[in-house]
Amino acid sequence: MGLLTGAELWSVAIFFAIFLLLVDLMHRRHRWTARYPPGPMSLPVLGNLLQVDFQNMPAGFQKLRCRFGDLFSLQLAFESVVVLNGLTALREALVRHSEDTADRPLLHTNDHVGFGPRSQGKCRKRQTWQEKRQQKQTATGWTEDPTVVIKTNVVIKWDRSRKEDEALRPKCGLPGVLQAQYGSAWRQQRRFSVSTFRHFGLGKKSLEQWVTEEARCLCAAFTNYNGRPFSPNTLLDKAVCNVIASLLYACRFEYDDPRFIRLLSLLRDTIDEESGFLAMFLNVFPVLLNIPGLPDKVFSGKKAFMALQDELLTEHKMTRDPTQPPRDLIDAFLAEVEKAKGKPESSFNDENLRMVVADLFMAGMVTTSITLSWALLLMILHPDVQSHVQKEIDEVIGQARCPEMADQAHMPYTNAVIHEVQRFGDILPLGAPHKTSRDIELQGFLIPKGTTLITNLSSVLKDETVWEKPLHFHPEHSWMPRAAL
Ligand code: HEM
Repeated sequence: MGLLTGAELWSVAIFFAIFLLLVDLMHRRHRWTARYPPGPMSLPVLGNLLQVDFQNMPAGFQKLRCRFGDLFSLQLAFESVVVLNGLTALREALVRHSEDTADRPLLHTNDHVGFGPRSQGKCRKRQTWQEKRQQKQTATGWTEDPTVVIKTNVVIKWDRSRKEDEALRPKCGLPGVLQAQYGSAWRQQRRFSVSTFRHFGLGKKSLEQWVTEEARCLCAAFTNYNGRPFSPNTLLDKAVCNVIASLLYACRFEYDDPRFIRLLSLLRDTIDEESGFLAMFLNVFPVLLNIPGLPDKVFSGKKAFMALQDELLTEHKMTRDPTQPPRDLIDAFLAEVEKAKGKPESSFNDENLRMVVADLFMAGMVTTSITLSWALLLMILHPDVQSHVQKEIDEVIGQARCPEMADQAHMPYTNAVIHEVQRFGDILPLGAPHKTSRDIELQGFLIPKGTTLITNLSSVLKDETVWEKPLHFHPEHSWMPRAAL
């Protein structure tokens, strides 16, 4: 085949540009409905990508809120996004319409870095879906639908009118917890996580005992510095990671264990990779993920993190005795996998276990560790608050025993300080994105199914109409002195 000449190249370029514009128009057609939230003018294909300040999104959103109100829309390439601001709008979306907004946007990158079927060869879930489909064809005499083509386990065309098949259709990747698409797997995994966390309980030690022991180790590591200055961040990471490990693996690592140090470093790399601009860009233009070698290069930390989790999971399975009560969340999950044998629609399977474990490490580690760093910093900056907290600790717990959860009820000031640390720290200003699973009406606007929702939590935590001193650390915001209760 010869090379394209100048005129032919032009025709291909014009064809490609028209094709892109048509795809773009298709994605943004609902912006033309009268009750879609307003937003800034957007460019073809790129949408508002060039107008969003990715370095400081909450500040940029505050400016747009002043211009367009509590609900405004953005077009991020082909992704339609509505940003929710203020307590009323967020409560309406996440509480009143909790089920309709519980979906999550698909992360295309997952399919390429160890979570999705592509990276795992034959994905059990997809295989069983095909088996199920075949079973259905055999049972009902229903013949192959020409609008559905399956090629190497990937559905490349789907007829949306076949509603009865929607339930059988696997979603992209595996559910996990944090990124699970709204549906039966979402419900199963939430129910499982909440009940397992609540009844901990599991194994020989309760979660409270694990936390108390870890706090003792952390204090000992602090004491080793003999009053010399040090940054507590790495030690806080280690302590929090150990509490999550105790929940998942019923074990704790020594702080100088090389495998533990590697686990933490890979976890940090994974979070940096996932929250970086490149990951966002690749999720907006997933076609680029097909460039050979690119996903491996961009997500090398995440791949190594998953490989280490696989190693730990294999070791853990070898020491499990199914006749004994579960030692931890992984044992409880494996028991569910056994119960789910012969139920192909279940999300309890080995592939999803590694996803759940990774989700819990990623969702819990940095969030808790950064919050604790904020707490220490704020205690240093506000010695008056620190001495008030210390006084309450001395009165209620004393110096002779460890704290217990039951003490919380008798420590209103410390409780208020913890709430204020979380409000002021505002460590996840935009929360985690949601997606509408059907058309909904919010604050008089119509938001179509499939729209990504960004929850501007910062707009509530720093709201001038709610807090007396929104930009200051002020425990009195949530402190009710005993006399006032
Ligand atoms: C101070 C510490 C933490 C903060 C500030 C925090 C904050 C958040 C936020 C803002 C969300 C998004 C909620 C939404 O969907 O709108 C979230 C979700 C989640 N967090 Fe945390 N988190 C913390 C600790 C943890 C820990 C310790 C774990 C578990 C080990 C955890 C597991 C999860 C999970 C599984 C989700 C997804 C829940 C869902 O999709 O319904 N988080 N967290």
